[in-house]
Amino acid sequence: MKSVSDNPEKREMFYEGKAKKLYATADPDLVIAYFKDDATAFNAKKKGTIEDKGVINNRMSELFFTLLEREGVKTHFVRRMNDREMLCKRLEIVPAETVVRNIVAGSMAKRLGREEGETLPFPIVEFYYKSDPLDDPLILPEHAIAFGWATEAELRAIRETALRVNRVLIDFLDQRGVILVDFKLEFGRHHGEILLGDEICPDTCRFWDKATRKKLDKDRFRRDLGDVEGAYQEMLRRVEN
Ligand code: TMP
Repeated sequence: MKSVSDNPEKREMFYEGKAKKLYATADPDLVIAYFKDDATAFNAKKKGTIEDKGVINNRMSELFFTLLEREGVKTHFVRRMNDREMLCKRLEIVPAETVVRNIVAGSMAKRLGREEGETLPFPIVEFYYKSDPLDDPLILPEHAIAFGWATEAELRAIRETALRVNRVLIDFLDQRGVILVDFKLEFGRHHGEILLGDEICPDTCRFWDKATRKKLDKDRFRRDLGDVEGAYQEMLRRVEN
């Protein structure tokens, strides 16, 4: 007897990104995301692996997507199938990545000559054009509308959802002694509806320990700070508690 909870058969791989592979299933609405241990930075100019990163990011994304769904955010998450695979709704990805920042860090510190660690007076939402040849440039929402990457209504929904995600994650992480510095989200269309996609994990967020400000995210890999695996494991431990 087949039931809806049976895992679908994995068919052909139709996309391989830097951190994940996507496989088709017999159901055109569902895909399987396979989480790799490969780590890249600076648009893959730096390459390496982080042991068990795929397992940690899969599990952490499950926990965050479940939390967000409970809080009324619609996501592509269906269920985690095993250590490295997640069943997701198929999305037509909006080629504008959404970054929310609470504290100045990373490219914002560099671009605007600000000290890393400065708390922003309000969260800032930014959009980046998803393009490897162009190194994901910062764009205005008007660019996305003008070039047909998203409609004005979609961008409004994306912005509102991104800020809602920020609120939910800030509160959840604060209780676990973690500061949410910034993060990147991807959205896509599923039967015309905008859903939150991709993953939410130390690759796509900056997490700082509240007491020590120790970095518990991929900046340890990007900046050769050491204890990369330890930071990923520590973050999972906090999120699981
Ligand atoms: P940034 O400061 O380098 O622009 O990064 C902002 C946030 O986006 C940070 O939490 C890391 C995340 N991010 C990704 O998920 N993918 C990327 O390719 C980059 C550059 C950043």
